[in-house]
Amino acid sequence: MAELMWKGKHKRNLDELSDQAAHKQLSTLRSHGQIYPQANNFSSDKWRNRLIRGDRSDVLPLLLREFGGIVNLITIDPPFMTERDFMGIGAGNSQLAYSDKWGHNIDAYLQWLYDTLALLHALLADNGSLYIHLDWRAIHYAKVILDEVFAHRTQADGAGFKSEIIWSYQSGGRARHGYARKHDTILLYTKSAAYCFHGERISERRGSLRRNHMRKQVRTDGHVTWTIRSGERVYTYDEDALMTPGDVWSDISHLHQKDPERNGYATQKPEALLERIILASSEENDLVLDCFCGSGVTPAVAERLGRRWIACDQSRLAIQLTEERLLAGEQVRPFVMQEVQETIMT
Ligand SMILES: C[S@@+](CC[C@H](N)C(=O)[O-])C[C@H]1O[C@@H](n2cnc3c(N)ncnc32)[C@H](O)[C@@H]1O
Repeated sequence: MAELMWKGKHKRNLDELSDQAAHKQLSTLRSHGQIYPQANNFSSDKWRNRLIRGDRSDVLPLLLREFGGIVNLITIDPPFMTERDFMGIGAGNSQLAYSDKWGHNIDAYLQWLYDTLALLHALLADNGSLYIHLDWRAIHYAKVILDEVFAHRTQADGAGFKSEIIWSYQSGGRARHGYARKHDTILLYTKSAAYCFHGERISERRGSLRRNHMRKQVRTDGHVTWTIRSGERVYTYDEDALMTPGDVWSDISHLHQKDPERNGYATQKPEALLERIILASSEENDLVLDCFCGSGVTPAVAERLGRRWIACDQSRLAIQLTEERLLAGEQVRPFVMQEVQETIMT
């Protein structure tokens, strides 16, 4: 297996990652208010969805104590190593949402990504899936790191890489001296072969578009089919048949500035993207985690689709906008707001 090396690469084991600093062993997640949205009448089961403010290096080890090996779906859109600051609108004012500056130190970024992915892998259930969304800057490094992190089981278990999804869009400018960058990449990894995948839930009608040199045939009853010969075989497809999307997604556009879905967070992704991921790779009531939730798109969609969720972010603005977004939704179930609390030893 190929392995990515960088200066100062440190393969921490899970105990080390969980207790990177002695004081963190003593940290807990402190709830600071339980939100019961008005006008709801939900049964009082014990589970509460969680919105947590904190750095992933504090929050994930704490979550590991409670949720190690039981998260069904992890979907993350971490900093891309853009070397930029991102703004957001909170309380009518433009403010710093988060900084994605690494001092151009790729080694620091890669170690950070490696530690994050190792913790997330430990949180994932045996039948769980992980999606990571990045772009040309880091996705190829992330692929090799993920191959390493998911390789503690043999390929025979069916663990590891499943898909490289190209999210292709029209927005962004045109480059003068090169090809305009018009896509992000989303990788899908699973912890075993027994992962959840429901292509039928995200399928679309094949439709009347001619694909792949197929021949159209109209039956006497008006029914349309498409056929193609490959070798000795002829394949026939019904125009009404459902097709699972391929791995190039060009039917979901970036949110434009005036899109009603926008809530003021600079790097906000469209709900349609998360809807496809969550529908395909989780069941109702499954537990979905996003530790870089930003504008709150993952918890908002998970909530709407009846999944349990844990959403985290280090940015105050992200947590504020996510809270507002959730409370503005119809039929939001009660959720808990939490922060990392360090216990002081006397
Ligand atoms: C690309 S944005 C996520 C955008 C989100 N998917 C959305 O659609 O709004 C990355 C997020 O990671 C958060 N973040 C960056 N470093 C973090 C860290 N060490 N711990 C927790 N969150 C972090 C940032 O605050 C930011 O909200």
